[in-house]
Amino acid sequence: EKGGYDYFMLKEIAEQPKAVADTLLGRIDPAGSLTLDEVRISPSELREIDKVVIVACGTAFHAGLIAKYAIEHWTRIPCEVELASEFRYRDPILDVQSLVIAISQSGETMDTLMALRHAREQGSKVLAICNTNGSTIPRESDAVLYTHAGPEVAVASTKAFLTQLVACYLVALYLGQVRGTKWGDEIRDVVRELSRISVEVERVLRTMEPVRALARTLAAKNTVLFLGRHVGYPVALEGALKLKELAYMHAEGFAAGELKHGPIALIEEDLPVVVVVPSPRGRSVLHDKIVSNIQEIRARGARTIVIAEEGDEAVVPYADHLIRIPATPTLLQPLVATVPLQVFACELATARGNEVDQPRNLAKSVTVE
Ligand code: BG6
Repeated sequence: EKGGYDYFMLKEIAEQPKAVADTLLGRIDPAGSLTLDEVRISPSELREIDKVVIVACGTAFHAGLIAKYAIEHWTRIPCEVELASEFRYRDPILDVQSLVIAISQSGETMDTLMALRHAREQGSKVLAICNTNGSTIPRESDAVLYTHAGPEVAVASTKAFLTQLVACYLVALYLGQVRGTKWGDEIRDVVRELSRISVEVERVLRTMEPVRALARTLAAKNTVLFLGRHVGYPVALEGALKLKELAYMHAEGFAAGELKHGPIALIEEDLPVVVVVPSPRGRSVLHDKIVSNIQEIRARGARTIVIAEEGDEAVVPYADHLIRIPATPTLLQPLVATVPLQVFACELATARGNEVDQPRNLAKSVTVE
């Protein structure tokens, strides 16, 4: 049932192009606009929304962090993202004009469920983004957008995460479309790029052998740091989470701009630091700033592992290891940038003799608070 792979996780990583394509299927019409039949919140209600709040746990929370960039950019609706376990205990400000998005692979995570119940009690509309048909979270929500990743068995989430991102982009684009936005042209371009993205994910998967080889050389390390900016920041958090879950290593993700406010004190000789580099096109100021960060940490002895777009030559002199990803629109980059980090963590776990599919102390679905 592992389809010839040693672990479910490897199988699920490999299934990502299909999972992404399946989640897009039937949701973009030939003219390039979005159809979301399962969203049973009417366009007129969506036009009344004045705030979006995303609640989720673990990897799904990271998808939510990325969604915030897309939702605020394309719709200009303020968006908060909160760990579901923190949400209801702080008396969050919610009303009928708030749209709460609950993201959950299993649809059974108790923290997320309690957060959405709290939101509904305040009169807010809840949209679930979920991978499991008929599970509790979508049943208790006003609307659901299912991710079509298929069953995910490995505890560490991979294909479900990529499809959560796709679903979040669809929601953001759809909100932009029903509300009208000055980014109309950009939305059309992104829809076009999104419908091609599974091919790019496939391309990344074909180039992962050097990432695996690199991971094996780091098996004896204790710490790996991850840096990113903009949507690359949650990608860094996700890369670090994967390494904690699977390799039981101390791994932390930082916003690269925060480096000088603390984390740079951690840099020492031969410390592996993974840096997710934004596109040199698009928000190029951020690209240049992160290249300076790479220079700074390398000057202090870090071993730099740089994930950068094809054609980005500026990073080459400062990368001890260079992992190439295809060029994508800035906001979509997490769909390709996360994949090498999944492979990296999986291979490190294997090299350290860990149980990849069933990491110690973790469960696939946590149905207690
Ligand atoms: C954790 C799992 O307990 O729950 C993570 O180990 C997962 O992998 C998180 O991301 C959230 O789960 P779900 O099913 O709500 O997406």
